[in-house]
Amino acid sequence: MKSHIIITLYIVVMCVSGQIHCHQYSIFSDVYNQSKVHVMQGGRHQPEYYGYEQPCPDAEDIAPCVCTYHIEDNAMDLNCSAVESEEQLKQIFKADFPFKIFKKIVIYGNDNIKVLEAGVFNGISFERIDIEHNHLEVIELQALDSCYETATEIDLYFNKITSFPFVELSHCSNLSHFDISDNALSMIPADAFNGLAALETLILGGNSAKIVGTFQDLSKLRGIFLGYNDLTSVPTNFIKTGSPDLGYIGLNDNNIVSVEPGAFDIVEGLHISIHDNSLSTLEEATWRPYLEVGGILFVGDNPLVCGCDIAWLFGEDQLLEQVNNDKYTTCADGEKLHDLDPGIFDQC
Ligand SMILES: *[C@@H]1O[C@H](CO)[C@@H](O)[C@H](O)[C@H]1NC(C)=O
Ligand SMILES: *[C@@H]1O[C@H](CO)[C@@H](O)[C@H](O)[C@H]1NC(C)=O
Ligand SMILES: *[C@@H]1O[C@H](CO)[C@@H](O)[C@H](O)[C@H]1NC(C)=O
Repeated sequence: MKSHIIITLYIVVMCVSGQIHCHQYSIFSDVYNQSKVHVMQGGRHQPEYYGYEQPCPDAEDIAPCVCTYHIEDNAMDLNCSAVESEEQLKQIFKADFPFKIFKKIVIYGNDNIKVLEAGVFNGISFERIDIEHNHLEVIELQALDSCYETATEIDLYFNKITSFPFVELSHCSNLSHFDISDNALSMIPADAFNGLAALETLILGGNSAKIVGTFQDLSKLRGIFLGYNDLTSVPTNFIKTGSPDLGYIGLNDNNIVSVEPGAFDIVEGLHISIHDNSLSTLEEATWRPYLEVGGILFVGDNPLVCGCDIAWLFGEDQLLEQVNNDKYTTCADGEKLHDLDPGIFDQC
């Protein structure tokens, strides 16, 4: 009788800065709490959340974290940027929280938290986890367990993370955005993301990490960013998401010497950035399928030899036009790829 469900619909329109896509998310969050029914005048039952002027915990109980209630979207945020120690963070989440579902947690510019400990959030959950620009090194197994189902966006960029519980990502069925770029991971296990049906943007750049395994079965993926890592050869089926919306693959600033045919999904208009690598050729079997369906290849700053191996780009179908033309897109001798005289390939 007393049980109720509060259903909140958020429409969040977000443009991820520096990207070519904008994303639209529809996020439903279900709150189920058997004991929280507010009996209004006339005996009507109302969710107590709406009856409260302030659903946040008492400010002094959670200081220096700050809880903010946004009445317009009926959501609470928690800002724990000023937390002084791991022990203090743990104690704060032992306080009395009238409601356990938060929209967002922010920890920004904090030098004190090195480890996010198992169970630290003590059952409090978040849709958005925004823990960036800190000195965080380790995220333990089960540190994020209260967020598995609710988390839609996890941002952990610009920390010093060496250890993240990748094995637990399979629980994050609603995750649409994951960014752990600019950290200190030595290895990224690609398979950890496989099957995440809501994932749209995956940002793993700037770790100088080995990337082990392949990215498969990500049916909503729009962009994958793997720049500034330590990829050397890209195998067949490396990125086979099955997503019709895949628009961007970033492999720039690695140490890539070869890309096997069939490495990626073939999607119309796919942009592939592989500039600042060590490619000496653009193999027809690898690249023709992408360029033929309107893909764009960004290939500047590679030591291309520009012999008969790339004659196919200068054929009647003019696939060269699908290769981005900027001042960095040159052969190893410095001549611009787009300035080459097609006649030199006549004898090939
Ligand atoms: C979140 O995940 C649950 C379980 O997989 C699913 O039933 C629900 O529809 C998801 N919500 C959204 C907004 O995707
Ligand atoms: C509902 O809220 C009360 C008070 O915060 C809490 O003790 C209880 O565990 C909650 N019930 C559920 C099902 O989450
Ligand atoms: C979080 O709190 C810090 C101070 O502790 C403040 O500087 C920062 O602007 C706050 N961030 C947000 C998103 O409210």
